[in-house]
Amino acid sequence: TSTMGLLSGLLEQASVHLEGQNIWVLGPSLFGAVLLLSVVVNVLGQLLFADPNQPPVVFHWFPFIGSTVSYGMEPYEFFNKCQKQYGDVFTFVLLGRRMTVTLGPKGNEFVFNGKHADLCAEEAYTHLTTPVFGEGVVYDCPNHMLMEQKKFMKFGLTTETFKQYVPLIKDEILSFFANSPYFKGDAGRVPLSTAVPQLVLFTASRSLQGKQVRQALTTTHAALFHDLDMGFTPVNFMFPWLPLPHNAKRDKAQRAMAKLYMDIIAKRKAGEEKEQEIDMIWNLMNRNYKDGRPLSDRDIAHCMIALLMAGQHTSMATTTWTLLHLAAKPEIQQALYDEQVRVFGKDLAPLSYEKLSELSLVNNTIKEILRIHPPLHSLIRKVKSPLHVPNTDYVIPSSHFVMAAPGVSAMDEQYFKNAKDFDPFRWIGHEKDEDNAEKFDFGFGLVSKGTASPYLPFGAGRHRCIGEQFANVQLGTIISTFIREFEFSLPPGQKEVPPVDYNSMVALATAPAMVHWKRRQHSSH
Ligand code: HEM
Repeated sequence: TSTMGLLSGLLEQASVHLEGQNIWVLGPSLFGAVLLLSVVVNVLGQLLFADPNQPPVVFHWFPFIGSTVSYGMEPYEFFNKCQKQYGDVFTFVLLGRRMTVTLGPKGNEFVFNGKHADLCAEEAYTHLTTPVFGEGVVYDCPNHMLMEQKKFMKFGLTTETFKQYVPLIKDEILSFFANSPYFKGDAGRVPLSTAVPQLVLFTASRSLQGKQVRQALTTTHAALFHDLDMGFTPVNFMFPWLPLPHNAKRDKAQRAMAKLYMDIIAKRKAGEEKEQEIDMIWNLMNRNYKDGRPLSDRDIAHCMIALLMAGQHTSMATTTWTLLHLAAKPEIQQALYDEQVRVFGKDLAPLSYEKLSELSLVNNTIKEILRIHPPLHSLIRKVKSPLHVPNTDYVIPSSHFVMAAPGVSAMDEQYFKNAKDFDPFRWIGHEKDEDNAEKFDFGFGLVSKGTASPYLPFGAGRHRCIGEQFANVQLGTIISTFIREFEFSLPPGQKEVPPVDYNSMVALATAPAMVHWKRRQHSSH
């Protein structure tokens, strides 16, 4: 689990510090006594010195470790239990850091809509992201530059580009079905945990990243992408600098991936390319910061890596969960197939961006999956100045982090009846809810401020996702193509979708996430 990952990192760190000294010279009994004393002091501190002006602290025996294990193993179970005991606002200890969680729609808004002077994302995330994305972008630059970078990225995510992307994505999926060993013959089984990451990588890279990056990712750069991806793990939230072999590989891979992009840029600048692709690299090459500076080649390379990583994990988790829940509910597969026939005719005309938006059941299926399985369960900010929590007596000290977990309100019966059921039809009539919410421009276009919504899988406010439309295009095309080509089910005897694996950066389905498939009669193959 992620907790075990964190703990083993911690132990390795301790052993580095203790190298050369023999801790056991202290004697096991003295070690035990020190441990006991620290537990007693920690417990008494919680019982006797609780500050009524600060959020309640989740009871824990061990200092530093705090609630790391229960949070890391089952974050939602932990949040729900704490919510029952302490209310919507509480603090827990995560490897020595004090995290104040604010739940419910108001709690979501408190974190997402906080002022940048009070709440800062870069200090919460930079340790994890900067070694992977590279320096100078996203959380390794002032927030106003991130706002500009998001604006630039959005220029490459327009209706015009999406129209080009849909056929490219569809072709990638069909060629994946034709070439993958998991889709040979008329029926078979596919471990989604292996197949979907590839499918998502190929589709995102062919569209958003461009032809050259797509080619490199199956040939020269496949292993490098894997090494970089391995650097994107929860343990690196806390110990990104640990001299572990996977971190050395991550750093080497980061430099090589950045070079791939910089070489493409250099070639384009030198006019060495016969046909110019209008892709995201091209888009970023044509943007200037407000002060007139263009993005440097390095900034462009690092933004491209950030986009690749941000989209890869979130989309692959969502695609996998969608296929699993559909496998468990053949009646919804049938309804989706009927929708394809209704929108595209019985010969199933080729998918197009315009028609994707007419597939309301596909779009509601994605919405529903993101309600039950939002890929990101904890969104974090560093508190910069003492912060009052509205309608309470609590002031959160500046030594704390705050954490939003909109997945908790999204699974709350108060807001969603039969919250545990996968029911895409519940969204009928609510498709445009966010369009009616209060909007603000933080520098990258109008976005919802999150005004106290229980459902925010893409976040809200200045750090809101810019990839939602792209994700919908990519997922909509993948789901539609699957539905057109196959009928699928969970393995015989398996009634439920697999449990969540919190070991990774996003809430993944536990491997192998096997699904059995049968080719549809009319299929083009
Ligand atoms: C931010 C979710 C796909 C790029 C975010 C945030 C969430 C999120 C919750 C807010 C993070 C925070 O407040 O700390 C998702 C989900 C996705 C998805 C559920 C798919 C199902 C994508 C894709 C891209 C992308 C495909 C790129 C094309 C970004 C970027 C940010 C972001 C650039 C801004 C980070 C910031 O301002 O701090 N996403 N995302 N995302 N996402 Fe996504």
